[in-house]
Amino acid sequence: MIIYFSGTGNSAAIARAINIHFDAAIVALEGDLLLHPETNPLSCDDNIIIWVTPVYSWGLPPVVVNFMKQCHITNAGSARHHLVVTCGDDTGMTATQWRKLMAGREWSAASATSIIMPNTYVLMKGFDTDSPEVEKQKLTAAPEQVDRAIARIESVCNDDEMLRGSFPRIKSYVIYPWFIRHAMSPKPFHATDACISCGKCARNCPMLNITMSATGRPEWSDACALCLRCYHRCPTHAIAYGTATKGKHQYPGPTKQI
Ligand SMILES: Cc1cc2nc3c(=O)[nH]c(=O)nc-3n(C[C@H](O)[C@H](O)[C@H](O)COP(=O)(O)O)c2cc1C
Repeated sequence: MIIYFSGTGNSAAIARAINIHFDAAIVALEGDLLLHPETNPLSCDDNIIIWVTPVYSWGLPPVVVNFMKQCHITNAGSARHHLVVTCGDDTGMTATQWRKLMAGREWSAASATSIIMPNTYVLMKGFDTDSPEVEKQKLTAAPEQVDRAIARIESVCNDDEMLRGSFPRIKSYVIYPWFIRHAMSPKPFHATDACISCGKCARNCPMLNITMSATGRPEWSDACALCLRCYHRCPTHAIAYGTATKGKHQYPGPTKQI
């Protein structure tokens, strides 16, 4: 079974590419399943479970952490669990965080592998999407990384092959907790006058966190994963995050199968 969370399509594309090989059940963490894992049990007949997720601030997205802690999956205790993360640059100690979560569930954590994909984080000064050239380079290199992740899962590896980057402990043990506490608020999200009230942001939000107001503009409630699907998929680039997104670009997601 492959279980994935994806904001802007990178992790979804990687999950699908891996599944061309495994032809397993594939589950997207979205909507009610993501919001209420405890009341949505998953039935798994496989002896491997592959978790695919983006890296958020050198750790796992909090919604994925919550899912891993709360979910009910039949046979999860006898399956071998693997982690495949997608990241724009580096992962810090994300694999260690995942191993602790798996240990907390008494689940067997096998391989952890990272795959570089185009960057999606645009909400702070100095952070923007990759240039079209870098985006293309990363997408061109992705299939080889998918093959590597598959080979590691197949060969029953129990180790990490993660691009941890520089100062991984500071990034994951100092910046990650700070980020979760102070930099994940949806409050700065708003629609600019470019909004055409199409409602795509509300329809597509994996957290069901966006509603269209009486004025035809989207409004964000508190249950935001900060996945940025609303921002990147807006057809008129009308979604802003305070002033942090001024002059920033959108990432359309992988347009072809990886
Ligand atoms: C809130 C947020 C935080 C991120 N933090 C990191 C990070 O710490 N390291 C990194 O390399 N990429 C980071 N990224 C980039 C994503 O991990 C990367 O683009 C990923 O492939 C996006 O996957 P998705 O399209 O499935 O959502 C971040 C993206 C977001 C939205």
